[in-house]
Amino acid sequence: MRVLIVLPLLFSLSCGWKIFHLGKFRGPKSEVSPSRAFPDLWFDQKLDHFDPTSNTLWKQRYFVNDEFHETGGPVFLMIGGEGKADPIWMEQGMWVEYAKQFKALCFQVEHRFYGKSHPTENSSVKNLVYLSSEQALADLAYFIRQMNKKYSLPRGTQWVTFGGSYPGSLSAWMRLKYPHLVHAAVSASGPLLAVSDFSEYMRVVRDSLATHSDECVSAVAEANKQFEILLRHRIGQQRIDKLFNLCDSVVDSSKNDISNLYETLAGNFAGVVQYNKDNRQFEGAIDANITIDVICDIMTKSSIGSAVTRYAAVNDLLMKTYDQKCLDYKYENMINEFRNETLEGATGAGMKY
Ligand SMILES: *[C@@H]1O[C@H](CO)[C@@H](O)[C@H](O)[C@H]1NC(C)=O
Ligand SMILES: *[C@@H]1O[C@H](CO)[C@@H](O)[C@H](O)[C@H]1NC(C)=O
Ligand SMILES: *[C@@H]1O[C@H](CO)[C@@H](O)[C@H](O)[C@H]1NC(C)=O
Repeated sequence: MRVLIVLPLLFSLSCGWKIFHLGKFRGPKSEVSPSRAFPDLWFDQKLDHFDPTSNTLWKQRYFVNDEFHETGGPVFLMIGGEGKADPIWMEQGMWVEYAKQFKALCFQVEHRFYGKSHPTENSSVKNLVYLSSEQALADLAYFIRQMNKKYSLPRGTQWVTFGGSYPGSLSAWMRLKYPHLVHAAVSASGPLLAVSDFSEYMRVVRDSLATHSDECVSAVAEANKQFEILLRHRIGQQRIDKLFNLCDSVVDSSKNDISNLYETLAGNFAGVVQYNKDNRQFEGAIDANITIDVICDIMTKSSIGSAVTRYAAVNDLLMKTYDQKCLDYKYENMINEFRNETLEGATGAGMKY
């Protein structure tokens, strides 16, 4: 079986699979101007591939680049993930170099429920039954069959799927589930085994910080110790409010709020590690120059102050980068963002970029 797993690489096409957590502090990307060369194209997609009695259709967005294609060449399919599909990928990224080499026809398909691909009018709980990786894979299988017809591709045309992160999983699963449609799959950083309570993730973050220095790792540990002590008394809590520029005081905050605050601050580091030097500038990333070295230089610079003060300085740097006025760590606010059922123009925690 030709499933190529490229683990160390992390495409940002999908913004990374930790977006659920990172979304709120990986700030908005600067708006990339719509590509004139690659306009929005629309595909009549089935709403429910697993109900033969349903023939409801919706418009799924896709992009095509046929400038490298020669008859008999393969078809490359970039799989969209949990974010809006960006046409910049039709002219940039390693797969475009491969497309030139192999004279491939290139497609990118936006994942259902993201960007402009709305299978239903909103994301109510009732409608979310149609948001699944199984339906997304079936979307792609149907897309492949229809494009083979639309472009009159010769029998035996080889389709190769590409994807990074969650779409990396989809890419591998496409080859596994539809071997008669997909000749080969490139799966970059595709998580294939689901793990709950995934503490190993933070262990990788720690090991990555250690590539700068052991001092960086111990400074983060020390900062957390000091943070915990500050949390125990009112004066300390007020100091935390100031240090971390909180929108709401931690005085009298709930247990869930405190958990969320810890997670948000740890997420500062997790986010930088996950996207370290991954060349996302072409996608409009505004945080590309905040690297492991930058935050570890701060964590190990004792002239800034105590470990917790340095921890706050890292937070300041990220808030400034994302133009955040104050740090919203309230659990209820986060839940309310997820409750928002609007698909049109949605950004934020609902992941519908
Ligand atoms: C969400 O969409 C459904 C139809 O799919 C509709 O019945 C419902 O009223 C919508 N909810 C809101 C809040 O607009
Ligand atoms: C990152 O780049 C921005 C924009 O050029 C600049 O203002 C900022 O100082 C840089 N930050 C670091 C840590 O290099
Ligand atoms: C829900 O999200 C939409 C799109 O981002 C936004 O315009 C709207 O204000 C949000 N609604 C609430 C109640 O926050």
